[in-house]
Amino acid sequence: MIVAETPQDARNWARSAQRAGHSLGLVPTMGALHAGHFSLIDRARSECSRVAVSIFVNPTQFGPNEDLTRYPRTVEEDVKGCRERGVDLVLLPPAGGEAGIYPPGFQTWVEVRDLAAPLCGDRRPGHFRGVTTVVAILFGIFRPDRAYFGQKDFQQARVIERMALDLRLDTRVVVLPIVREADGLALSSRNRFLSPEERERALAIPRALQEAETLWRAGEERVSVLEALVLDRLGPASGLTFDYARILDASTLEPLACERIDAAPQGAVLAVAAYAGSTRLIDNVRLGRGGAPENRGG
Ligand code: PAJ
Repeated sequence: MIVAETPQDARNWARSAQRAGHSLGLVPTMGALHAGHFSLIDRARSECSRVAVSIFVNPTQFGPNEDLTRYPRTVEEDVKGCRERGVDLVLLPPAGGEAGIYPPGFQTWVEVRDLAAPLCGDRRPGHFRGVTTVVAILFGIFRPDRAYFGQKDFQQARVIERMALDLRLDTRVVVLPIVREADGLALSSRNRFLSPEERERALAIPRALQEAETLWRAGEERVSVLEALVLDRLGPASGLTFDYARILDASTLEPLACERIDAAPQGAVLAVAAYAGSTRLIDNVRLGRGGAPENRGG
């Protein structure tokens, strides 16, 4: 496995792989790799003859009061994990290496408008602009045939799909299901910040999503009723600090007509964000048509 420290090295490797006729899969990450990331890597490995992983804590997607400086960095384990899973190249700019990813004099931003507006876009101004810009740079370096993202960051995946379409990038965006702990908590690099008590409280999030899904499967189509249920379960009694719980059209991320889930042709998504202590957690579940197979109704 090659560990490339610069975009130039990664680009040269990608071009020669492509010239040799290989299909190239890219898994962009910010490191602190866990089973969620590895599910993307494994899928890339099964679909592409060359697999690259990028590990870069992208400063432009963090707000001024967010956790950039304390974001977990576990570089050695990450490299080992990639090697064990048969990754061909890891792009790993050295610490403080954003100058390597962002060229000197950098001033070009990629911004998706409507899909990036609600949910985390509303709560984290500038976040998605940072995400789409760095992913566009990575797509430019690798020109991957396929790039793999998790439904865990549902809005992010939608925004990146839109960017690839709008810019006519020749990369297929593949979105894979959320990997969870046995007790339901969605895996996240930030989970390692949770104290045992906070982790216990955080379980209210997947439980609330599951309760809402069960109610929906039992026939409840009203957005207001399902959102109120989640709001209640993540309210003050949960010990969490509630951020948002919204049910939106899964393809446009707009509010549903008549506030009903069955009005969404592609189905809906119930997306939540809440803080356990100072750690921000997000999670979601698909409701309605078009969901991942395990979430599909009927
Ligand atoms: P990061 O949070 O490291 O996540 C990298 C990829 O792993 C994302 O596509 C994310 O959705 C996926 N992922 C995270 N947890 C997952 C889980 N429990 N199950 C399945 N997939 C999961 O997302 C980012 O990095 C950055 O924003 C990035 C796209 C790399 C741009 O900087």
